[in-house]
Amino acid sequence: MKIFLDTGNLKEIEALVPLGIVDGVTTNPSLMAKEGGDPRAIIRSICELVQGPVSAEVVATEWQAMVTEGRELAAIDSHVVVKVPFTRDGVRACKVLAGDEIRVNVTLIFSATQALIAAKVGAAYVSPFIGRLDDIASDGMGLVRQIVDIFDAHQFMTEVLVASVRGPMHIVEAARMGADVCTCPVSVVEACFKHPLTDIGLEKFLKDWEKAQASRP
Ligand code: G3P
Repeated sequence: MKIFLDTGNLKEIEALVPLGIVDGVTTNPSLMAKEGGDPRAIIRSICELVQGPVSAEVVATEWQAMVTEGRELAAIDSHVVVKVPFTRDGVRACKVLAGDEIRVNVTLIFSATQALIAAKVGAAYVSPFIGRLDDIASDGMGLVRQIVDIFDAHQFMTEVLVASVRGPMHIVEAARMGADVCTCPVSVVEACFKHPLTDIGLEKFLKDWEKAQASRP
């Protein structure tokens, strides 16, 4: 399963790319707004840092305007994946952009029927928002399972990109279910590096090593 970073922050991306675990990046208008500055320049810089898909979301809401904006975003860099929301206009725009061979990530997916429709119009990715479903006492990961089953049964090429991730267990469950991608806030990736038994184990290894060195004749 690929791991994407869900951020528009260049410093966060720069810090994790050298570890070799970042397969791509997703952004959305809220994340870009947090960064300030020119969003298209930021997308360009992200594409320079990450040799993988970088989702950039349209803010237009009418399909023709979405197509125009999507084409502009796709022209920034060959790594750009155009993100459109799951609306009637978004679906129509996805069909046109996919026809232009522009990769589209259909976002704000909260049901299996939405994912199925997005796949039918040629989406490269669908983004089910797991955490936001969990937040309202719905089964976020259950939705991922449904989508993976449907795409497998019908051999859709559309990738399941698990989004709105809240913690490391979402990564584990997404991987077990066969999701293609899990996009994570940096805090969730950082949490994967923390384990008290690893820290205690390493401390003991190093102490034992030092003791042995000190007692050498
Ligand atoms: O990028 C979309 C998604 O991951 C948003 O997550 O935490 O705002 O629900 P969140």
